[in-house]
Amino acid sequence: MQTEVVRVDRTKIDAYVMEKAGKILKSGGLVAFPTETVYGLGADALDWEAAKKIYAAKGRPSDNPLIVHIADIEALSKIVKEIPEAARKLSKAFWPGPLTMIFEKKECVPDGTTGGLSSVAVRMPSDEIALALIRQGGGYVAAPSANRSGRPSPTTAQHVYEDMEGVIPLILDGGAVEIGLESTIVDLTGSYPVVLRPGFISLEMLREVVQEVEMDKGLIAEDSSIPPKAPGMKYRHYAPKAELKIVEGEMERVISYINKKAMEEPGVGIICTEETSKHYHAGLVKCIGSRREERSIANHLFAILREFDKEQVTRIYSESFESPGLGQAIMNRLLKAAGHQKVQV
Ligand code: TXA
Ligand code: MG
Repeated sequence: MQTEVVRVDRTKIDAYVMEKAGKILKSGGLVAFPTETVYGLGADALDWEAAKKIYAAKGRPSDNPLIVHIADIEALSKIVKEIPEAARKLSKAFWPGPLTMIFEKKECVPDGTTGGLSSVAVRMPSDEIALALIRQGGGYVAAPSANRSGRPSPTTAQHVYEDMEGVIPLILDGGAVEIGLESTIVDLTGSYPVVLRPGFISLEMLREVVQEVEMDKGLIAEDSSIPPKAPGMKYRHYAPKAELKIVEGEMERVISYINKKAMEEPGVGIICTEETSKHYHAGLVKCIGSRREERSIANHLFAILREFDKEQVTRIYSESFESPGLGQAIMNRLLKAAGHQKVQV
């Protein structure tokens, strides 16, 4: 299959291109598209066969459910049984935007989309291209991140092309995404909201809207005997080809530990920040962003992991980013990429 990449200008969306993309979705095909978080791989969410194609294209286990993307709030009540009060408040505060909520699903959502679960994940993205595509595609677009399963999520159309060339007919290219990390997932099927995946909308931001929100114990448990509730969070993810280790501790010690390793070992890659980059004297040093601007770190994380795959490195050492807010989401992704390998110095 030939994969076409079409540039779309967000300020002047080409109706002809969107109509063509919508037609592909309506006839059961796949279209990759930008959202404000990461690029998604879309299919008609209410079409079992179309959802199945997503799993095949990604090489994704079929028990890992998809997020259904909608373009207006009226669409929600057509696919979920009940909208709890907390969900109304959260949707008012954060939709359209990088928040996914989980509800009990109605019959019309096929098991193929939800991985056999009785619940469904729903998100209204804010990206204008995504919204236009959802409207053209029938209103319900199932979309995981548009990477091959296990690879870092794509933040540019080029990343999608690397993973999906020859596998899907169309990639809508809206340039680099705004955020760079996937949406925050909140489960609303229990007695209080639970965060299943940290993201741009932090626990602190959620608590300003609904007081009682907790983190999924499977995410914070040091002993991994408690499995995370979102099926996708249990898989190794975002893994670069080289082994990745996260170095934690006081910054001076972190720098001297990484410098020593880079001098001793061949093929060392280093993930550092603007504040620290001048202190590294060996290895292949890549700057991920500024600690003063955490958004820049979130924005470059996946791209940097992909860049290292093109380099001759066998081991990557990364500084650590533990902090509240966005730092929590950054560390969640880094730890998964590292298969939870941490060094304390
Ligand atoms: O930002 C995002 O959320 C991106 C863009 C494209 O919207 N999408 C995305 O989808 O990250 P994906 O498939 O890569 O991740 C979806 C996560 C998985 O961990 C999956 O297990 C979880 O959501 N999930 C989906 N439906 C669920 C459900 N009913 N119950 C629990 N977890 C669910
Ligand atoms: Mg994903």
